Amino acid sequence: MVAAPDEPSAVLDVQVTVATAVQMRDLGERLSGLLRAGDLVVLSGSLGAGKTTLAQGIGAGLGVRGRVTSPTFVIARVHRSLGDGPDLVHADAYRLGSRAEVDDLDLDADLATAVTVVEWGTGLVEDLADSVLAVTIEAEAGPTEAADAAAGQRTVRVRGWGERWQQPEAIAAARRAATGAAASR
Ligand SMILES: Nc1ncnc2c1ncn2[C@@H]1O[C@H](COP(=O)(O)OP(=O)(O)OP(=O)(O)O)[C@@H](O)[C@H]1O
Ligand SMILES: [Mg+2]
Repeated sequence: MVAAPDEPSAVLDVQVTVATAVQMRDLGERLSGLLRAGDLVVLSGSLGAGKTTLAQGIGAGLGVRGRVTSPTFVIARVHRSLGDGPDLVHADAYRLGSRAEVDDLDLDADLATAVTVVEWGTGLVEDLADSVLAVTIEAEAGPTEAADAAAGQRTVRVRGWGERWQQPEAIAAARRAATGAAASR
């Protein structure tokens, strides 16, 4: 864990260590508490890093219908809210090579009423929304964890761009959500 939780900050940039897939899901659940309709979340990290696992936690936290899975053919799927909260749009841009293909998904049709989470969306989808929550997952263990690094350990960096994530309350809440997940279990 890099950030000191009490340190006031003008930017959202928090790094946490996530030891297991269960913790990754928990992190997603915690982050979901910050998210509202119109939010765009971009997940990056290599194959098998844990992007879908994090998205599953977000879906669980939002309370949406259906299982959040790694799509084989379906590239974007709408998971309707089971309650009053926003829907979840979960998309995987891995197979998309261009902005034109992104536009074909019509992600902006649901953007206003949903939380939109895009795996492999870096450099392709950020301009769909004014603000972006960017989550980067790295599989390498950090140097300080090397001694007892579990094979599944991940380093997760949560960054916020745009006005939404420059609000001090949003930054503080995101830092609490991110670091809380790392401290649990
Ligand atoms: N600390 C961890 N965090 C997340 N997943 C972990 C962790 N340790 C082990 N795993 C395992 O790694 C795999 C992550 O798969 P997942 O589908 O979430 O990755 P992904 O980044 O979405 O992959 P893809 O690039 O194929 O979409 C799961 O099998 C999960 O159980
Ligand atoms: Mg995936």
